[in-house]
Amino acid sequence: MMRRAKISVIGAGNIGGECARSIAMKELGDVVLLDIPNKDKPELHMPKGKALDLACCGPVENFDAKITGSFDYKDIEGSDVVIVTAGVPRKPGQSRDDLVAINAGIVKNVAQNIKQYAPNAIVIVVSNPLDAMVYVMWKVTGFPAHRVLGQAGALDVARYKTFLAMELGVSVEDIQGLLLGGHGDDMVPLPRLTSVNGIPVSDLLPADKIQACVERAKVGGGEVVKLMGTSAWYAPSAGTIEMVEAIVRDKKRVIPCAAFCEKEFGVANANGGKGLFVGVPCVLGAKGCEKVITFKMNDEEQKFMNESISHVKDLIAVTTKLLPEVA
Ligand code: APR
Repeated sequence: MMRRAKISVIGAGNIGGECARSIAMKELGDVVLLDIPNKDKPELHMPKGKALDLACCGPVENFDAKITGSFDYKDIEGSDVVIVTAGVPRKPGQSRDDLVAINAGIVKNVAQNIKQYAPNAIVIVVSNPLDAMVYVMWKVTGFPAHRVLGQAGALDVARYKTFLAMELGVSVEDIQGLLLGGHGDDMVPLPRLTSVNGIPVSDLLPADKIQACVERAKVGGGEVVKLMGTSAWYAPSAGTIEMVEAIVRDKKRVIPCAAFCEKEFGVANANGGKGLFVGVPCVLGAKGCEKVITFKMNDEEQKFMNESISHVKDLIAVTTKLLPEVA
């Protein structure tokens, strides 16, 4: 008999709640939603309340998934996958990098607990600034790098494809594309590898229109923050669940994620000989990141990639200043 996957979501806020809902709707496994008590309102138990509300969708949506809410890390024991969305989201005018001072400490604390209570899990970090937070997770858990991933590329590519589909007036399902690099405004677009069912996008749209879609994807998160006053959650959660599904169903999907790279894409060369986590195409399966797929970049793409790596490097330097123990 096959055991159901157990998926824990740390941080039961906007992204965490939507992740839990998608996991249940797709019946990817049972869910534990974990958060911290509200200091000002100790009578509340938000993760339990959210779990109960979600569980009651089951009879309507026809899913079988156990959804529980907890303040206690003991409840994540035996998790196959842990999603980390704990931390503060952006406010208008803030960049992802502005969150580091608060989120680095939160992610460190979460990582210590994952190490203790779910030592065999595959961890997907969503908290920002993404590339540095994945690094903290990896350092603090000491997990092998293939079990520590960051969600960024799945979302960035989804935004890129959405804007292209709007521009082209075709279905989003028929756009293929890829973005690499850090989850910042300097992510690396690859219009050369973008197509509509194999037809190069450059045959269908003028260069300036493609570039406009690239630029909009780069700041797509900020566009939502400006409109809503807080970070996006539907698309970030969709990107995360795309990764979870590939892992839980051992699909070997090729999805851009923040993964540990050394030689790949010249990362160590651009980072003083050391590896780091940055967005690259990964084969996702039951073991986590089973392979990083590399290909030859042209000079311009490599230049953009180096800039992005250098930005991630600076962000890690800021993070290790705050948390010298993860240096
Ligand atoms: N442990 C567990 N959960 C925590 C902790 C902690 N130490 N600190 C904060 N949280 C919880 C909060 O209580 C909150 O419920 O994390 C949750 C975050 O949810 P939201 O505030 O709704 O933020 P969300 O939009 O989900 O974004 C979460 O993901 O994409 C990133 O930039 C985004 O860093 C942000 C994170």
